[in-house]
Amino acid sequence: MDEWEQMDSKVGWSRRRFLLQTAKFSALAFLGSPLSNAEPAVFRSLPDPQAHHVLMLGDWGTVREPDQQTAVASAMKRWCADYHIRPEALLMLGDNFYGEMSDGVNSRRWIKQFEQMYPSSSFPGPVYPVLGNHDYERFRGNKVEAQLAYTGRSSRWTMPHRWYTVQLPKRNPLLTLICLDSNLPGSKGLDPWPWSFVMSKQEHEEQNRWLEEQLARPRSTPFLAVAAHHPLYSNGSHRDNRALIDEWDPLLRRHQVDLYLSGHDHDLQHLEFSGHPTSFVVSGGGGAELVGWSTLPAARGPWGLRALGFTDLELSQEKLTVRHIGKNAEVLYEFKKRLSSA
Ligand SMILES: [Fe+2]
Repeated sequence: MDEWEQMDSKVGWSRRRFLLQTAKFSALAFLGSPLSNAEPAVFRSLPDPQAHHVLMLGDWGTVREPDQQTAVASAMKRWCADYHIRPEALLMLGDNFYGEMSDGVNSRRWIKQFEQMYPSSSFPGPVYPVLGNHDYERFRGNKVEAQLAYTGRSSRWTMPHRWYTVQLPKRNPLLTLICLDSNLPGSKGLDPWPWSFVMSKQEHEEQNRWLEEQLARPRSTPFLAVAAHHPLYSNGSHRDNRALIDEWDPLLRRHQVDLYLSGHDHDLQHLEFSGHPTSFVVSGGGGAELVGWSTLPAARGPWGLRALGFTDLELSQEKLTVRHIGKNAEVLYEFKKRLSSA
């Protein structure tokens, strides 16, 4: 069981009000409006190069904004170079390929938008993807099948199934990461285009059975995270996802899941709920066009920023540190989560 601790009292009024509501929460944040893209960093904790790092980003495989994808990828490389970080893995939080990918596993987009964009020289570890709604589009090719097949072609892209579990780092793991497919049957209404599809009812039931089995296993790592493309809770344009909340929120609570990691909304967020063991992270700033808020992050936070960027999850034996990083490789926001026994 983890608990938050207060790291810094210099938080905005909304966060201060939130902290009063939630004794277990703590965040290290920066002063200023959470709606501004140019907030000065007041406090900055340097990443620990001796710790283990998993970098994550969602909504990156854009067609219309190639410069934005390149900018975030450059920031990831710079972040690793500046702080001597060799990431254990990359976690790709879905909407990995927008638009047409008619050659599927043979598409040139694999080289340009993945291999060269996130090169093994900076990111030598495995790359774990989950599937987004834009991956569930048929444009003279099935991008879900292409991404499963690319596992057999790549030394890094690792997607053994639409849902799977990994432990990180490989030796003496600290984190169990359960990767899920959040494209539930019935969610097609959100993307009503004829080329969109979703997982079948049978796949849905199979995943649910598998998930309960995974969560029922005795914990073998200090930390447990679940990753999927769609957030349960989001202040972004897509809002809260009632179907996912109904299905997964009780499981997150019952099994004391530490982090729920997602993309889908094109922004960076951290959400906490009083008494809830899970911290909710949205990292959807990988390149696609930024979109506005449905709820101001100041009203239900603690934090959100409409910004391009990625997220660094730093793992140590006693704590998790989540850092949202901007396109200039600057820390925009961070929070920590400690084991209560640490
Ligand atoms: Fe999405």
